[in-house]
Amino acid sequence: MRIFSGIQPTGRKHLGNYIGAIRQYVDGQERGDAIYSIVDLHATTVSYDPAELRRTVLDTTAMLLAAGVDPERCILFRQSDVHEHTELCWLLCSVTAHGDLNRMHQFKEKSARQRELVSAGLFVYPVLMAADILAYQTEEVPVGDDQRQHVELTREIARRFNERFGETFVIPRHRIPEVGARIMDLQEPTSKMSTTAPSDAGVILVLDDPDTIRTKVKRAVTDTGREIVRDPERKPGISNLIEILAAVRDVSPQQVEAEFEGRGYGEFKQAVAEAVVEYLAPVRERYEELRPDEAGLERTLREGADKAREIASATMRQVRAAMGVGPTP
Ligand code: AMP
Ligand code: TRP
Repeated sequence: MRIFSGIQPTGRKHLGNYIGAIRQYVDGQERGDAIYSIVDLHATTVSYDPAELRRTVLDTTAMLLAAGVDPERCILFRQSDVHEHTELCWLLCSVTAHGDLNRMHQFKEKSARQRELVSAGLFVYPVLMAADILAYQTEEVPVGDDQRQHVELTREIARRFNERFGETFVIPRHRIPEVGARIMDLQEPTSKMSTTAPSDAGVILVLDDPDTIRTKVKRAVTDTGREIVRDPERKPGISNLIEILAAVRDVSPQQVEAEFEGRGYGEFKQAVAEAVVEYLAPVRERYEELRPDEAGLERTLREGADKAREIASATMRQVRAAMGVGPTP
C-alpha cells in the first residue's frame, strides 16, 4: 500500500504534530510503501525568510529521523527537489474549482493572519498538496484532523481528472488517528495547538527541555470541577490532557479516566507531565546528535529525491499523455 504525507519545514514542531502526524509516519513504514516530504514550497506561500527556510528544512529532516523515520524503509525528500510537484500542481489547477478553494478553512484562517500580502500561492496551496499526494498514486494519507478538508479536496480533484481525461489517479483516503488527531493549546484548550499561537505557554515543543514541559503542563488551564472525565464541551482543558496522556501511553481515553477516577487535578497533571517528558526525551536527544551533520542530512534528502522523482515522473508521463500536453508519446 502506498502511503504519502507532507510536513511543513519549521524548527518548532509541537506535541500536536508529533502525536497527530509524525508518529504515524513511523508506523506507516511498517504498514506500507511510505513516502514523506518536507514541503518547502508550501512554506513560501506566507511571509518567510529564505535563509531560515533552508535551515528549517534540515531541522525538520533531523526531527523526523530522530522520531524514527528511517530512509532505509521509506522515502524521505524535500519537495522542491522533485520538480514534478510544481508541474502537476499547474495541470491539476485545470480540474480544480475556484469555488472549492474559496471554501478551504485553512486559507481563510491563514489569509486573515497575513499583514502584507495574501499571495495567490496561499490560495493554490491545496492544489500543490493534491499534486504531492497524487504524483505517487497514494492510497493513504496520514495527517491530523486539520488536514481533513484538504484530503477531501484532493479526492475531488482526482475524481474530476479521471472523469475528464480518463482513469489516471488512485483516489486517496486520509488516515486520521482516533486519539490525538487534534491536540489543543494548553492555555486555550478550545484552539488547536499551533506554533502560530500568540504565546508558547500552551504549546509543548518536541524540543522543549523537561522542566519547560513540566511548567507548561502544570499551568495548563482546567476547569473548577474535580472529575477527570472527557467532556470536550464543558471540560476542554481536562479532556485535552486525557487525550494527550492516552496518546502518549498508547491506551484509550477511557483507560485514563478509569485510572484517575477520584484523584485530583494536581496528581493527574503530574502524571501527564512525566509521561510527556519521557515520551519526548529520546527524540530530543537523538535530534541533538543528528542535526549538526548537515552534509549527512542533505545526502539523505538527495537520495530520497532521486527515488521520489522516479515514481513522480512516471505519473507525469501518464498525465501529460492524457491531457494532450507535449509531443505525442
Ligand atoms: P504542519 O506542521 O502544519 O505541516 O503539520 C504537520 C502535521 O501535523 C499535519 O498532518 C497536521 O494535520 C498535524 N497537526 C498539526 N497541528 C496538530 C494538532 N494540534 N493536533 C494534531 N495534529 C496536528
Ligand atoms: N498542508 C499540510 C499541513 O499543513 C502539509 C502537506 C503538504 C501535506 N502536502 C501534503 C500533508 C501532502 C499530507 C499530504 O500540514
